[in-house]
Amino acid sequence: MRVLSVDDNAENRSLVEAILKGNGIEVESAVNGAEAFDRLQNGGFDLIISDILMPVMDGYKLCQKVKADERLRHIPFIVYTSTFTSAEDEALARKIGAERFIQKPCDLATFMAIVREVTAKATDGSIAASPLPSRNEEVLQLYSERLVQKLEKKMLELEQEIETRQQAERSRQELESQLHQAQKMESIGRLAGGVAHDYNNMLSVILGYAQMALERTEPGSLMHNDLREILDAAERSVVITRQLLAFARKQTVAPLVINLNETVEDMLNMLRRLIGEDINLIWRPGPNLQPVKIDPSQVDQILANLCVNARDAIAGVGRITIETAMATFDEEYCTRHAGAVPGEQVLLAVGDDGCGMERELLDKIFEPFFTTKAVGKGTGLGLATVYGIVKQNNGLIDVSSEPGHGTTFKVYLPRCHEL
Ligand SMILES: Nc1ncnc2c1ncn2[C@@H]1O[C@H](COP(=O)(O)OP(=O)(O)OP(=O)(O)O)[C@@H](O)[C@H]1O
Ligand SMILES: [Mg+2]
Repeated sequence: MRVLSVDDNAENRSLVEAILKGNGIEVESAVNGAEAFDRLQNGGFDLIISDILMPVMDGYKLCQKVKADERLRHIPFIVYTSTFTSAEDEALARKIGAERFIQKPCDLATFMAIVREVTAKATDGSIAASPLPSRNEEVLQLYSERLVQKLEKKMLELEQEIETRQQAERSRQELESQLHQAQKMESIGRLAGGVAHDYNNMLSVILGYAQMALERTEPGSLMHNDLREILDAAERSVVITRQLLAFARKQTVAPLVINLNETVEDMLNMLRRLIGEDINLIWRPGPNLQPVKIDPSQVDQILANLCVNARDAIAGVGRITIETAMATFDEEYCTRHAGAVPGEQVLLAVGDDGCGMERELLDKIFEPFFTTKAVGKGTGLGLATVYGIVKQNNGLIDVSSEPGHGTTFKVYLPRCHEL
């Protein structure tokens, strides 16, 4: 016995070949209806097993052509399909003249039983003697409807697949740039930390000697005043090194289990003084806030830096909002945000209605010494400090900003389970 298997999918072809050969049946394969029809011209086939949706010529068309051909119509035709599976599909296949309709996947035993049953029918001559299948309008109509429907479904599936792939590619690129950014911050941090450490040692020497010298000079003398200037400059440098150490996560800290609502509350008066009277400070404490473990002075540093930046972004009158809330990082959020760990988080957000920032700026603002402020107005260490503190406490900082519409910084700190 010789079978012609028709399928555009290579894996399906191999499977059918394997099943039939395994049962001692000779088999040839074609990749679409047109190629199959060519092969049939050479004769010698006892059975056709064909898929339906194929390029060039589909299975319905092939079946119609076979059943309309006097020399071929005795060959039994089995439709073997996974895309055409409704009752209407089967009815149409029968109308066109197919003997059987098998749905993929089909277990081996059933498949072979059908093959045997159909070939037996062919040998007793009943297939050749059956009347020619109808070629009326109704069949043609059905045929095109079925095909169009399936093609539409296939198109939709393909469109969805393309969309999923594009989405995956977008998240991959986003993650890659986040990773790149994190690596950059990491190496700047190491450099800054190393420099700050050495610098700090030298500063204490400068401060020490300047102080001793100051004590040995007459207050009000020229020398005394010069030494005072040296001391002032050295003290300002100490502040900068301290910020750099914070960015490099080398700040020595004393973490405590605290409730952020209470810590923020204690800071409000100081913050109001810091931002001045023209700016309205709105405080929205979140309900049921869980504790976090952090050095409270680090929360002060975060708030002071974010509020001063917000103040500087507001020209004239405006509004700064400080909010807290509980949040949860799910797996999906973590795949989109490098460094995020799934679980409960406590959110501290500082938003303003100031000038906002362009997209390109957002990648740079956490770098130490990045500032858009005039010389003497900003050192560009505020956000670097905040970044270092948040990282040191296993947190995450996120910023959203739109030019002209303000900025919101969101600091997430992991919820603490200690009592
Ligand atoms: N809320 C904000 N709105 C608009 N731009 C902001 C905001 N916060 C920060 N920026 C931008 O980010 C830059 C870096 O901020 P950062 O706090 O690190 O440094 P700085 O404020 O310039 O100086 P420093 O804080 O050391 O005095 C700012 O110069 C500003 O351009
Ligand atoms: Mg600042």
